[in-house]
Amino acid sequence: MQAQTEAGPEKSGISEQSPTPPRPAVDPPADRLVEVAAGREVTAEVHGAVLGETPVLEIDRFNLWYGTKQALHRITMPIPHGKVTALVGPSGCGKSTLLRSVNRLNDLVASVRITGDMRLNGDSIYDPRMDVIELRKRMGMVFQKPNPFPMSIYENVVYSLRIDGENCRAVLDEVCEASLRGAALWDEVKDRLHESALGLSGGQQQRLCIARAIAAEPEVLLLDEPCSALDPIATGKVEDLIQELRGRYSVLIVTHNMQQASRTSDYTAFMYLGRLIEYGPTTDIFTKPILKETEAYVTGRFG
Ligand SMILES: Nc1ncnc2c1ncn2[C@@H]1O[C@H](COP(=O)(O)OP(=O)(O)OP(=O)(O)O)[C@@H](O)[C@H]1O
Ligand SMILES: [Mg+2]
Repeated sequence: MQAQTEAGPEKSGISEQSPTPPRPAVDPPADRLVEVAAGREVTAEVHGAVLGETPVLEIDRFNLWYGTKQALHRITMPIPHGKVTALVGPSGCGKSTLLRSVNRLNDLVASVRITGDMRLNGDSIYDPRMDVIELRKRMGMVFQKPNPFPMSIYENVVYSLRIDGENCRAVLDEVCEASLRGAALWDEVKDRLHESALGLSGGQQQRLCIARAIAAEPEVLLLDEPCSALDPIATGKVEDLIQELRGRYSVLIVTHNMQQASRTSDYTAFMYLGRLIEYGPTTDIFTKPILKETEAYVTGRFG
């Protein structure tokens, strides 16, 4: 099918107040990415299986601008409870922006403006009455580079309990062990819990950061390329851990590594230039996606 060539309302000089209805989605979706690159709206292909899941997080018509540049375009997607969901797409497509919007880290960027909403277990994340500190306590976030605090392994893990005023040794000990076991790190560190976390290897530090996040019992765990600073062996261990988290935690992970997405996630969402393009069960996205554009991306033909 030919790509649409008409100018959009923004190009024809018609103001935003114009009654002109939004441009219809292109269907069938030949050259959907060309349409996106031309600034036209396209409808995301969201597989039925995604919609059948109970969501932990609902992203609802979410738009985000950095100054005048729009980085996210009307993203609507549920994130299933108790599953691992991977966000993939070329560099600059908005994966980190979307992830940071979930725990309102983008509030810290002065130029950011948003419309739409997100809900965490039904609670509006962007409700002006939302207490952002409390909101962030309900989520765990792990970044590209491991960021253990300059304190002992033990104190890193129980940090969230300490700031909530928990000082009972038995409680702290129990959470420390359970979280380190949950992060597949216990056996490696159980004899050195009171040594500095900075003495751990990069891969151990990243699993420690995941243990620290788990200790706070987050409703959702946000991971932004958690293996990109790790060597292949450490990456393998963190990937094994993410697979073990399946079913026990709701995880939203950004990765540009297709093998990692296919190995570790239940669902995969493909983003392009700030839009959600296709979102479905990982096996379908990798073996029989609806869109040829998705297939081209996941098989490494562009990006
Ligand atoms: N603080 C910021 N101020 C202005 N523009 C930003 C800011 N952060 C990100 N952007 C822009 O928003 C777009 C999306 O960036 P983002 O970092 O979310 O992409 P990404 O998909 O995570 O990319 P990568 O795979 O390279 O990490 C890019 O065009 C980027 O330049
Ligand atoms: Mg990023």
